Amino acid sequence: MTPSHVLVTRSLTAAAMSAAQRLLAPLVVLDDAPPDRAELLRSARGAVAIVSLLTEQIDDELFDAAGGQLRIVANVAAGVDNIDLEAAARRGILVSNTPGVLDEATADLALALILATTRRIVEADRFIRSAEQWIWGPKDWVGLQVSAGATVGIVGLGRIGMAVARRAHAFGARIIATGSRSSGPEAAALEVVPVGLDELFETADVVTLHCPLTSETRGMVDAARLKSMRQGSYLINTGRGPLVDEDALADALEEGRLAGAGLDVHENEPLVNERLRRSDRVVLLPHIGSAGAATRDAMGLLAVRNVAEVLAGRRPITPVD
Ligand code: DGY
Repeated sequence: MTPSHVLVTRSLTAAAMSAAQRLLAPLVVLDDAPPDRAELLRSARGAVAIVSLLTEQIDDELFDAAGGQLRIVANVAAGVDNIDLEAAARRGILVSNTPGVLDEATADLALALILATTRRIVEADRFIRSAEQWIWGPKDWVGLQVSAGATVGIVGLGRIGMAVARRAHAFGARIIATGSRSSGPEAAALEVVPVGLDELFETADVVTLHCPLTSETRGMVDAARLKSMRQGSYLINTGRGPLVDEDALADALEEGRLAGAGLDVHENEPLVNERLRRSDRVVLLPHIGSAGAATRDAMGLLAVRNVAEVLAGRRPITPVD
């Protein structure tokens, strides 16, 4: 492996790769698919920087394999739960992420999941493909109408949560939220009502998760939380899968307490919970929240620029503290 190289653990979009070729030589780029662990460790040896994806576990073992020259790990994601931040800090290795550039794309997808579940879009699509005949009926396919003033509860009103709030407000929803910005001026303009976590789960018609995965938030949507939710409510997760106990969610759906769920992320990603897979009331997506073309370019470019800054002796643009 080239010593002092920059390792890109999976090939990025064409725009991001051409910036990487221009700004970060010598470059070692692994394949499109996630590298197996041995290959990752081998190719990290001697690296001064690693551009990593959320599919790679970045930890002490990898830092040992890389050796003492490693200066930055630039994650191509807002979330950094795949990185052992404490180990990086201990070794003086900088970590950066890509906040800000994926808010709108992720919020678009959260809204899409809210509408897909409440208006039963995917279920209806499956029905019409399999039905031999059908006819319009006044009581058929009725679902929760967000635009009729349903209450949307946003867990974690950060950048992405606020982008969801803007959309939900435009749709005519009443919005309640947790998070430091829920009592700020932008939230006030969107008529967001700040609430505690318990009240949010107890009163929202739709709960949508936008908090990071940390040791405090892991498993926060457990059986007790799900039991506290309103009869016939919905859960949307475009954050991180392990925020939710999926078996408890399957129970809540099977018992008819929850009317539906929309999941872009999965507890044991890339594995998908079999019980949820069988449920008609669940919309399942393969972690595509940021998969807008412009957003994926912007994420890759920001990660490349973070590395370029550090190699030039400056701070990354978007460091993780
Ligand atoms: C992120 O940035 O954390 C997203 O989950 C990637 O799409």
